[in-house]
Amino acid sequence: MKVGVLASGRGSNFQSMIDHVDLDVLRGIELTVLISNKRKAPALEITRKHDIEALYIPYIRKQGSSKEECRQLHDQRILAALQERSIELVVLAGYMRLLSPQFIDTYPDRIMNIHPSLLPKHPGLDVHQKVIEAGDEFSGCTVHFVNKEVDAGPIILQTKVPVRKNDTEASLAARVLVHEHRTFPKAIQLFSEKRLSVVGKVVFVEYSGDWEESWNQRQAAYIRHQEKIWADAGKPLAEVLRVD
Ligand code: GRF
Repeated sequence: MKVGVLASGRGSNFQSMIDHVDLDVLRGIELTVLISNKRKAPALEITRKHDIEALYIPYIRKQGSSKEECRQLHDQRILAALQERSIELVVLAGYMRLLSPQFIDTYPDRIMNIHPSLLPKHPGLDVHQKVIEAGDEFSGCTVHFVNKEVDAGPIILQTKVPVRKNDTEASLAARVLVHEHRTFPKAIQLFSEKRLSVVGKVVFVEYSGDWEESWNQRQAAYIRHQEKIWADAGKPLAEVLRVD
């Protein structure tokens, strides 16, 4: 299945998808193209190391055109690139622009986003700060299909993450991110195996037989890899995930 990834920034979720493919956790998936609206997005850099096509498609604010018209024009260019490559699933991995209704209608229930909270709680920006201010005991991440309401499409998977009493925005963001990197690839695998069906606003997931067990067994290889990445970055995973 051909996947197109849209990203505006760091690209750590995109990197986790690449790692899941490389480690044979994510199967039958081709990360065909990475599209960014930011010329200097680190996500674009990642493609160079992995031989993945990268496209920079800037958003252009044209004098005399409305915001909606500019958005539509930008999205038309992205859509053309996706369709030329026969992309079947569009994944938003830190893509910081809203999509036009035309984009969403072109890929109904075939655009996925990840959000760093347990939606419907805390949509929008500054999520970790909102969680801390609200005194929530738990946060987490949500993978959902994108519809025309912001951060409110049908929820595919959620992972719950405890909030520590002394958490800062950064320490909570790191803990949630570890789980984002494990949750998004799982949703992509389920989609590619046609295990997701959307009825109204509800997503039904078909976990037949030992699907989850064998996914967890395969993903153990990624988790070992993830431990190494975080240790190399000077933040041992056990410390990031510690919840006392
Ligand atoms: C993630 O926290 C994701 O939940 C949000 O944007 C961030 C992107 O991070 N939508 P990255 O670019 O994947 O590192």
